[in-house]
Formats: sequence, C-alpha cells, structure tokens
Amino acid sequence: MEKLTNTCDLATWKMEYARELAEIANNLKVKRYLRDAFPHPYALKDAQDFIAKALKAEDGFYFCIQAGGNLTGSISVRPRADVERFSGEIGYFIAEEYWGRGIATEAIRAMTHIAIKQYGLHRLFALIDAPNQASARACEKAGYTFEARLKDAVFKNDQFYDQMIYAFVDSND
Ligand SMILES: CC(C)(COP(=O)(O)OP(=O)(O)OC[C@H]1O[C@@H](n2cnc3c(N)ncnc32)[C@H](O)[C@@H]1OP(=O)(O)O)[C@@H](O)C(=O)NCCC(=O)NCCS
Repeated sequence: MEKLTNTCDLATWKMEYARELAEIANNLKVKRYLRDAFPHPYALKDAQDFIAKALKAEDGFYFCIQAGGNLTGSISVRPRADVERFSGEIGYFIAEEYWGRGIATEAIRAMTHIAIKQYGLHRLFALIDAPNQASARACEKAGYTFEARLKDAVFKNDQFYDQMIYAFVDSND
C-alpha cells in the first residue's frame, strides 16, 4: 500500500491479530463513545467475528492500524446507499496506551485519501458524541470540518448526548 502516514500504517486485517484486537478493544474507555454494538467485555470470539466481517468487506472497507509492529487500532468506512452512495461514514478507535500521539489523526487522513482515491467516495463523515472532544479534534486535524450538532441524537451511558457531524468533501473532482 502507498505510504500515507508517518507514525502508523493502515494494513489489511489478518485473523492472527484477533488476540491483540481483543486485548485493546476490551476497555470501557474505548467503548465509551462507540455504538452499543461494540461488545463489552470484548472476547476473543468478538475479535474473530469482527475480523471475519472486515475480511468479507460486504458493508464497507476495514483496516487495522499498526505502529512499531503493534496493533494500535481499527478504522473503517461504510459507504451509504442510493442517493447517498458517494458518502461514507468513517469510524475508528485507538488502543488507550497509544492515545495522544497523533495516530488517529494520521489514520483518518490516510483512510480519507484511500476512500476517495481507491473507492471513489466524494464525502466522508464522522458522527461524534459531543463529549468526545478527542475525536472531534482528531477529525479537525485531519482536515474535517464541523457541520452540525444534532440535539440529543444519541442515548448512551444512560444519558442523551448531542451528536456532532464532521465531514471531509473532496474538492478535486
Ligand atoms: C478519539 C480517539 C480515536 C483519538 O485518538 P488519538 O490517537 O489519541 O488522537 P490524536 O492524538 O490524533 O488527536 C487527539 C487530539 O485530541 C486532543 N484531546 C484529547 N483529549 C481531549 C479532551 N478531553 N478535550 C479536548 N481535546 C482532547 C489531543 O490533545 C489531540 O489534539 P492536539 O494534537 O491538538 O493536542 C481515541 O481517543 C479513541 O480511540 N477513543 C475511543 C474510541 C472513540 O471514541 N472513537 C471515535 C468515535 S467517533
């Protein structure tokens, strides 16, 4: 794959990463602002099921994020359908021990490039719970623009959160 990052690499998932994935994903701080479908506790079987889904790539494209030979996170884009088919939702998490090193920023930037250049998407967007300022900041640093704040759109952790939309629109077509 073309080298798009300095601190990390986006790579194809392999089933042998399941144990490491289960280790980094089994963390309530990681799950906190992710969808309820993200399991907790996160068992080896959950990791295997996720990697199997990622390898099938039926609903999107999925990469693992690696740094220094270690699995440091996960990133995916799920394209929408019908009239929204040139838009894709980007989703990601980074292992807690690697937070604050710019890895999400670089991974989002690289994935956005791949989504546009290799998968032909025009618009990428992230749906971010309002308290998740680290995610909003990473998107901003990756070139995304704040578009909207949807009042109480999310119910999670027994409370409503506003949801923020950050988007990157390809200007080169
Ligand atoms: C959100 C997440 C992906 C960020 O990953 P990361 O690799 O630490 O991100 P980066 O280092 O690239 O950038 C984070 C930025 O947010 C800032 N930040 C961190 N915590 C913050 C907070 N509470 N308030 C404001 N800014 C914060 C960092 O300082 C950094 O900005 P800076 O470079 O200007 O100092 C990571 O925390 C994570 O995986 N969280 C759990 C899963 C998740 O929330 N995924 C996103 C769902 S939308």
